[in-house]
Amino acid sequence: MAGLGVVKESEPGERRVAAVPAVVPRLTALGLDVLVEHDAGVGAFHPDSAYAEAGATCVDARTLDARVDIVWCVGPPPPERLRAGQVLLGLLSPDGNPELVAALAARGVTALSLDRLPRTLSRAQSMDALTSQANIAGYKAAILAADTYGGYFPLLMTAAGTARPAQVLVLGAGVAGLAAIGTARRLGAVVTGYDIRPETREEVQSLGARFLDLGVTVSDGVGGYARALTDEEREAQQEALQERIGDFDVVITTALVPGRRPPLLVTEEALKGMRPGSVVIDIAAGRFGGNVEGVPVDGTVVVDDGVTVVGAGRLASAMAPAASAAYARNLSALTAHLVRDGAPVVDLADDIVGAITVTHEGSVR
Ligand code: NAI
Repeated sequence: MAGLGVVKESEPGERRVAAVPAVVPRLTALGLDVLVEHDAGVGAFHPDSAYAEAGATCVDARTLDARVDIVWCVGPPPPERLRAGQVLLGLLSPDGNPELVAALAARGVTALSLDRLPRTLSRAQSMDALTSQANIAGYKAAILAADTYGGYFPLLMTAAGTARPAQVLVLGAGVAGLAAIGTARRLGAVVTGYDIRPETREEVQSLGARFLDLGVTVSDGVGGYARALTDEEREAQQEALQERIGDFDVVITTALVPGRRPPLLVTEEALKGMRPGSVVIDIAAGRFGGNVEGVPVDGTVVVDDGVTVVGAGRLASAMAPAASAAYARNLSALTAHLVRDGAPVVDLADDIVGAITVTHEGSVR
């Protein structure tokens, strides 16, 4: 019987876990023996006892590493924990992590990364972890913005007068941006969205938001994604945004370009144009920067005259129970696709498996 192991996440502050107890029966039904590292689920409020009740065995790291053929993770575990022939499934960010990819290949690990899923294939949609996690991050970004902002989001009428609704701008209208737009709208704000992909105009408007026209659109990206802007396009975009950003109380930024640093949309100059008390939430923030100049990787700074800038690149982890449940469903769909007669089969000719395989039999793909 092949073993499937769920590791405890190793990145500091990561609260998600790759499997929740609810998916364990689905895995055992595939003929897999499910092992969960001790305390793997505590950050998402799943104690070892809940996994055991669902049919898994909770073990220490060493036992897990020795016994499993398939490893489930959110972010990559230290490569030293893995050995030749194991199949690793996770969000491994291979594009930003060449050393990791080389280490996995050197160890003979078959690494499959959901960052590379062909998301438009309908057979792959149940496995789309980027979408499940981005939806959560976008929702939480709007909640965090409302919590951080010192005014009301909705219009409020009282006998003593009327408070105007907050003006919210969402930059980047992909999965996370649209979730942020929908949530901010439901909280009563007046919402405006912007993206460089022209097709997003209709999507933004269908959520009851306005579309901001900055005069820069790009329709030649690949696979539905945006491409990186040229220097001239980027400058034009930054300048146009700088002129308009002062109209907004809250800005939520979500712009990403696959395999690249997040594009810089909000410059220091633009921040200077915002009113004191305004709030900027950057969910693209990470170790390679964010959409906002000077944004902290994780945390809050108050710049210049009182504009609060929040680096919030880990919002899915902040909603670990919901994020883990959705992610675990994505990984079980992928695992069901991989496993035949109780063992993983890595068929590189398969359009899903071929696209997400990062390392296999000692080489990088
Ligand atoms: P993403 O996370 O890579 O980027 C977020 C957004 O930032 C994108 O909308 C992108 O156009 C925008 N962006 C990039 N550079 C920008 C800039 N300089 N200024 C303003 N905006 C900028 O994208 P995400 O959310 O992963 O979605 C990418 C595409 O994949 C979308 O077309 C989405 O509709 C599509 N998709 C399709 C699915 C399906 O067919 N089932 C599932 C999920 C996504």
